[in-house]
Amino acid sequence: MTMPLFDEDGDPAPKSGIEWLGSQACVLRGLALARADALLAALSIVSTQAPFRHMLTPGGVTMSVAMSNCGPLGWVSDRRGYRYSPVDPVYGQPWPAMPDALRVLAGEAARQAGFDTFEPDACLINRYEPGTRLSLHQDRDEQDFTQPIVSVSLGMPATFLFGGLTRSERPARVALWHGDVVVWGGVDRLRFHGVAPIKGDAHPLLGPVRINLTFRRAGPALTPPVVTPPSAHTPRRTAPP
Ligand code: SIN
Ligand code: FE2
Repeated sequence: MTMPLFDEDGDPAPKSGIEWLGSQACVLRGLALARADALLAALSIVSTQAPFRHMLTPGGVTMSVAMSNCGPLGWVSDRRGYRYSPVDPVYGQPWPAMPDALRVLAGEAARQAGFDTFEPDACLINRYEPGTRLSLHQDRDEQDFTQPIVSVSLGMPATFLFGGLTRSERPARVALWHGDVVVWGGVDRLRFHGVAPIKGDAHPLLGPVRINLTFRRAGPALTPPVVTPPSAHTPRRTAPP
């Protein structure tokens, strides 16, 4: 199996560099690529301690994306709603610790995007199989919206949908590849986002699967964030399809 060399619009897949999706949102192309092996080894230990499971939405629907967590807080969903919990509800145990390789990558990505003091206390691990998708939503179960979201893609490529601050705004379609990292915070922190149904060839390392790691500060911030003013960047919004 070979990696596709082009995205869904036929453009060559970029391997490095920074692409701005908003004044405080960007894709760091290939940032996780060189350490993908270490990340996957760490994830395999985490998922033996907190195996992937399909959670229920508050409406009682089983989610197609399988999930696990590591770090002091884990995102959970059930009939009682969405929330962060220090305990894995399936096993009644704390979530596995966040491996250093993951925490360090998240901090580095946040810094490159202009957020200098990101200290994640939660890492949600999403596992997508072909055909699975994540509908448009905002990440708003966290206590402090001054902290960014850092999202790492591994395995099969995906089309990330990055919308506006209202659900009705048509989202940009952003091709994400194995090793890409997306960061959004500040004025872009509450933008709607989702993932189109996964399709295409199996990934050479992971097989027919996409793994996404979403790092967040879910509890109170330890230190106030230091944010590089957006004017220091060259904002460029991805053109709508
Ligand atoms: C999420 O929004 O929780 C995950 C996004 C992704 O899988 O890229
Ligand atoms: Fe999200």
